[in-house]
Amino acid sequence: MHLDQYAKVIAMPVITCIDDLKRLHKRRAPKMFYDYAESGSYTEQTFRENTTDFSKLRLRQKVAVDMTGRSTKSMMIGQPVAMPVALAPVGSTGMQCADGEIKAARAAAAFGVPFTLSTMSICSIEDVAEHSPAPFWFQIYAMKDQDFTVSVLDRARRAGCSALVLTLDLQILGQRHKDLKNGITSPPKLTPRNMINMAMHPGWSLGMLGTRRRSFRNVIGHVKGVANLSSLSAWANEQFDPQLDWDKVRRIKDMWGGKLILKGILDVEDAQRAADVGADAIIVSNHGGRQLDGAVSAISMLPSIVRAVGDRVEVHMDSGIRSGQDVLKALALGAKSTYIGRSYIYGLGAMGEAGVTRALEVIQKELDITMALCGERDVRNLGRHNLLIPKDFEGDWV
Ligand code: GLV
Repeated sequence: MHLDQYAKVIAMPVITCIDDLKRLHKRRAPKMFYDYAESGSYTEQTFRENTTDFSKLRLRQKVAVDMTGRSTKSMMIGQPVAMPVALAPVGSTGMQCADGEIKAARAAAAFGVPFTLSTMSICSIEDVAEHSPAPFWFQIYAMKDQDFTVSVLDRARRAGCSALVLTLDLQILGQRHKDLKNGITSPPKLTPRNMINMAMHPGWSLGMLGTRRRSFRNVIGHVKGVANLSSLSAWANEQFDPQLDWDKVRRIKDMWGGKLILKGILDVEDAQRAADVGADAIIVSNHGGRQLDGAVSAISMLPSIVRAVGDRVEVHMDSGIRSGQDVLKALALGAKSTYIGRSYIYGLGAMGEAGVTRALEVIQKELDITMALCGERDVRNLGRHNLLIPKDFEGDWV
């Protein structure tokens, strides 16, 4: 090995789990953006329970089972995937690391899993389409401005987006204390505090200086009367449609005309309504604990939703997945597939595109090894037989 290769090995942190990426992300991104990712609303009870409830489920160890020839390959809404884990839509991804959405989309395409672009992205649909080698999915909120909805759906169609993810649980923004205290905007305002914080993160700052993608490029210039919109809360207050109802969901489905995934279902009746609409999939989700604080964890709600609609619509889940073992548990409880948000954002904030790839590798390896130790060779065969489920896991609520 040459000296510079030794230096690389010495400098390269050994990443063995998602928590390693989280620690690096915290070190490498300015506080306001790390905090944006790492927060839930109000007391953060739901945010915390999304992860702690996973650890209440235990895995059933099986021995003396042939574990060769294992596969994590599966399908999501008719699309083959290397493992049933998609990248969830995350607002402001391009502020965690310059050109973040492009990097995440490229990592997902190379790995063989879907990437979902948020409406509140820094790189536009067109930016991502130009640089991603595979079609991606596009996420939208229900908007008051019908013209914006029509035009953004048209842009997504022209960019070749192969599914629409309609978010149903964010017509009004849950309060995240850290964002208010940090005064988060994209780009950050040039206050003395922000400038010091950016100077303390030179890698991030150099990346941002090297790109022109530093504000919400999907919306700026595309919405009437909105020229300079720098924060999600201002945009949500002004533009999101508080009158959203199931008829409007149907209208958006018809306007899109392609595959539709409804995100943010945490209630059996809502799941039934979503199945009635004829969506291709629903995502059991509480928005990563960022919306209704005090709601139950997504993983504890999953079984009753699967029982109610699992034969009518594909059931996916997000909120709380930080490992391949979590993925296995969600699949075993009946989810056809899962999404990661923070788990890949930590990777992006830590190491850019390579960090997203690393996050996916970590999760796939954990999933694969855990399958083997549970006596399973095919991810599609996972089921409740792989789990020990506490009797009160779903809660005994009245
Ligand atoms: C956006 O969807 C957010 O949760 O910040």
